[in-house]
Amino acid sequence: MNKKTILVTGGAGYIGSHACVELLQTGFNVVVVDNFSNSKPESLRRVHAITGLSPTLYQADIRDKQALSDLFANETIDAVIHFAGLKAVGESCQQPLTYYNNNVYGTLVLLEAMEAANVKQLIFSSSATVYGEATCQQYAEDLSLGAINPYGRSKQMIEDILRDVSAADKINHASFMRTNDLLPHRQLRKWKIVLLRYFNPIGAHESGMIGEDPNGIPNNLLPYILQVASGKLAQLSVWGDDYPTRDGTGIRDYIHVVDLVKGHIKALAALDGEQFATGNCKAYNLGAGMGYSVLDIINTFEKVTGRAINYKIAPRRAGDLAEYFANPALALAELNWHTEKNLDDMLIDAWRWQSNNPEGYE
Ligand code: NAD
Ligand code: UD1
Repeated sequence: MNKKTILVTGGAGYIGSHACVELLQTGFNVVVVDNFSNSKPESLRRVHAITGLSPTLYQADIRDKQALSDLFANETIDAVIHFAGLKAVGESCQQPLTYYNNNVYGTLVLLEAMEAANVKQLIFSSSATVYGEATCQQYAEDLSLGAINPYGRSKQMIEDILRDVSAADKINHASFMRTNDLLPHRQLRKWKIVLLRYFNPIGAHESGMIGEDPNGIPNNLLPYILQVASGKLAQLSVWGDDYPTRDGTGIRDYIHVVDLVKGHIKALAALDGEQFATGNCKAYNLGAGMGYSVLDIINTFEKVTGRAINYKIAPRRAGDLAEYFANPALALAELNWHTEKNLDDMLIDAWRWQSNNPEGYE
C-alpha cells in the first residue's frame, strides 16, 4: 500500500515538530509548510536526527496563494494537519488585525488551495480557549462556545468556517444529485474535518532534542518555570493564590505534547472510518481529564528534577479562570485516544529539553 502524505502547516513549531516525528515514525510521508515566523529550521534538522527521515520543506507563508498552489501541484497530499498560526493571547489583544489576518485569512487561503486540489481531509489545531468563561469546570465538546480574546475568537471563527464548509457539502450534494443524476459520484469528495481542542500542552520529546522554544520572556507557566530553574529568569510570579481551588492557585489540564500529537495520528485514522464516511466536521477535546494547580506543578517539578523554583505570590492575571479541565470521553470513544504520560513524565522531559538546550535552537 502507498504511504499517505500529510501536509503539516506550521510543522517547524513546538507541536508541529513533535507531530512530524510521530508521523514519520508511523510511516507517513510528511510535507511541511512554515514561514519560520515563530520557529527555526533547526527544529526540522532535529526531527531528522531523531527519525532518520526528513519532511519535504516549503518555506512559505500559508497566505501566499501561489506558493500553496505550487505546493499542491508538486505534491500528492492526502490530508492536512493545520498548526500554522499565532498563539499569544496578550499579543492578540494588542494586534488583533495581525491575528485575524494570519490565523483566519491564512486558513481561508489554505482551504481554497485544498479545495482547488480536491484535498478535503483536515485536522485543525483548535484550543480549549474557545469555551471562554464556561460556568462548569469540566468542558465537554457540546458546551456553547464563547472565546473572550482575539486569539480565542480567531480559533472559534475558524471552527465556524470549517463547520460551514462541511455543511455546504450536504447542500451541494443534494443539488448535484438533482442536476447530474447520471454523472459518477467521484466528483463528490466530501470534507472530512477534525477540530482538536487542546488543553495545556507541555513537555518535550523524550530524546530532549526538540521542545518548546519561546521567543523572549515566556507567558506560559512551564516555559517560565524552566527558565527560572536554569537561572535565565530570577523568579516566577504565581498569578493569584486566592482562587476557589484546593490550594488557591489556578488549575489546568496539562497534557504531554507527545500524547497530544498521537491524538492527531488517531484523528487521521478516524477520517477513514465510519464517523467520516459521508463527510463530517467534529470537535474533540485533547486533555487528560484532570487538573493540576500551579503549586502542584512547582512542587512536582522540584521533586522530579531536584531544582528549587524561586517564586512569589502575585495578583491574579487578567483573563485567567480559576479551574478547568477536559472531558476527554469523546476522544476515547470515537478516536480511541487517551493520554498515556503523567505529570512526572511531562516535567522530566521538559527539563531534559531545557537543560540540553539552554538557548533553545540557537
Ligand atoms: P508554534 O508557534 O510553536 O508553531 C506554529 C508554527 O506556525 C511556527 O513554526 C510558525 O513559524 C508557523 N506559522 C505561523 N504563521 C504562519 C503562516 N502564516 N504561514 C506559515 N507558517 C506559519 O505554536 P505551537 O505551540 O506549536 O501551536 C501550534 C498550533 O496549536 C497553533 O495553531 C496554536 O494556536 C495551537 N494551540 C497551541 C497551544 C499551545 O499551548 N501551544 C494550545 C492550543 C492550541
Ligand atoms: C494560556 C492562554 C490560553 C492558551 C494557552 C496555551 C491566557 C489567559 N490563556 O492558557 O488561551 O490556549 O495559554 O497557549 O493567556 N501562571 C502563573 N505564572 C506564570 C504563568 C502562568 O501563575 O508566569 C498560571 C496561570 O495563572 C494559570 C496557569 O499558570 O493558572 C497556566 O497558565 P498558562 O501556562 O499561561 O496557560 P493558560 O492560562 O491556561
